[in-house]
Amino acid sequence: MVERTHILGVGHAVPDNIVTNDDLSKVMDTSDEWVHQRTGIRQRRHIAADCGATDLGKIAAEQALSCAGLTIADIDLIVFATLSPDIDWPASASLLAAKLGASAIPAFDVKNQCSGFIYSLASADALIRAGRARHALVVGGEIHSTGIDLTTRGRDVAVIFGDGAGAVVLGRSPDPQRGLLSTHLHAEGKFAEKLWLEGAASRSRPRIRLEDLGGDDPVAFPRMQGRYVFKHAVTRFPEVIHEALAANGLTTADLDVLIPHQANLRINEFVAGALELEPHQVVNNIDRYGNTTAASIAIALCEAVNDGRVAEGKLVCLAAFGAGFTWASALLRW
Ligand code: COA
Repeated sequence: MVERTHILGVGHAVPDNIVTNDDLSKVMDTSDEWVHQRTGIRQRRHIAADCGATDLGKIAAEQALSCAGLTIADIDLIVFATLSPDIDWPASASLLAAKLGASAIPAFDVKNQCSGFIYSLASADALIRAGRARHALVVGGEIHSTGIDLTTRGRDVAVIFGDGAGAVVLGRSPDPQRGLLSTHLHAEGKFAEKLWLEGAASRSRPRIRLEDLGGDDPVAFPRMQGRYVFKHAVTRFPEVIHEALAANGLTTADLDVLIPHQANLRINEFVAGALELEPHQVVNNIDRYGNTTAASIAIALCEAVNDGRVAEGKLVCLAAFGAGFTWASALLRW
């Protein structure tokens, strides 16, 4: 039995193509002022040429492997978190495994929206501690730009989402005091329709029709009741962070760094205020990348490791809230 899992390497990848709020205002009725004031977003990345979530995931994964001083041959589990798989099935984890040249190791997707990365981390951690894997690759990757409604009709969602991927390599902690302390997962499906993408739906025949792409409220694009989501997010975030701290006999005074999912800067500022954290303790990069759902925490973690905000001995909390509704946290001693 492994006592504790640790993050041994991090990596991230975003497309080169920067799309500013002003760029979006040329194709829909929106403005830099509206988007920045409400969400903190200035720009996001959109792929320029067709590629899948696993193409960005592969770059992030290779960086994470190199950061950990390992190769794909050392990995015996791949978990891929995405709500925008390359294709409907098989799992993007299988496609990623093939691109990385993995042998016949287990690989599966976690489709759990913005909480997907923490759910994946929790799954890989459990398998490692159960002795089922030695080193796991956990990747969050999303391509939103090909699935959003880039017209005024879809502007509430379209301005928020961006493309990107982040990855971590997990393995046994070199020091029993360091590593993942606990993970906490929640879901409440009764709120599914508050933020969802209905089509293509296996419950309807045919699964998708041409008219699903048209009309005032087309089911083939993500639909969101933004204010409703906002209200739940600002409640669940502090709750699940307190849950993680309490489970380890700690308080917010012990916390060094919070890495929240990047859905809206105003949500994260509210959460920081509720937890009495200083702005420098909270990692935010939504101004540059928008909401990359399952990739956001992994990208922010990677940047915070690279710039030294996350360093040895720091108590770090990862926290997410998103469609489902789902919410989750992970507490770790770096
Ligand atoms: N540009 C300009 N106007 C826009 C717009 C855009 N991109 N999107 C919506 N609007 C308009 C609306 O049509 C509405 O117009 P109306 O008053 O004429 O009907 C007006 O702005 C206000 O819309 P509303 O949805 O009430 O705005 P808001 O202040 O709640 O902000 C969000 C919208 C999406 C920024 C905000 O609700 C939010 O961030 N919610 C949380 C979303 C989230 O976290 N999602 C991901 C979860 S993982």
